[in-house]
Amino acid sequence: MTLRLTINGRESLAPDDPMTPLVDLLRERFHLTGAKPVCREGFCGACLVMIDGEPTLSCLTPGGLAEGRDIRTIEGLSPAGRLNPVQNALEAHDAVQCGMCFPGMVMTLTHALRRNAAPSREELRHALTGNTCRCTGYERILDAALSAAGALQGGEP
Ligand code: FES
Ligand code: FES
Repeated sequence: MTLRLTINGRESLAPDDPMTPLVDLLRERFHLTGAKPVCREGFCGACLVMIDGEPTLSCLTPGGLAEGRDIRTIEGLSPAGRLNPVQNALEAHDAVQCGMCFPGMVMTLTHALRRNAAPSREELRHALTGNTCRCTGYERILDAALSAAGALQGGEP
């Protein structure tokens, strides 16, 4: 069967089983390797993408369920090759180590800061409960996110 997916604003066709996890379709069919299949069990958040504006675990989402919906990946956050404010802040705060978790972290924090321009540290900590980082401390990530607050109102995703 051919799946018809709208990814980062572009319609794309993928001949595949509708039960194939979206993370595999993104990476193997479309070479969008930002979303990472780390645990494949819904625990780590490294595979997180936006579907219809909501953070969604692409390891647990069959491609067939994503048809006809608006899929946004980390690659879609900076279409002109520019980093978005969350990415810039994470870099400025030296918060990234191996980077495996960061596509998911950036998607979560971008979503949270679009919803709330002035979150508290605790609110951001709560927003990140579904994102696991195995190498760095979370404090720098929170420092960075707080510094990016207010810069993400309006726009996509
Ligand atoms: S790979 Fe999807 S939650 Fe870990
Ligand atoms: S920076 Fe390595 S898992 Fe988060």
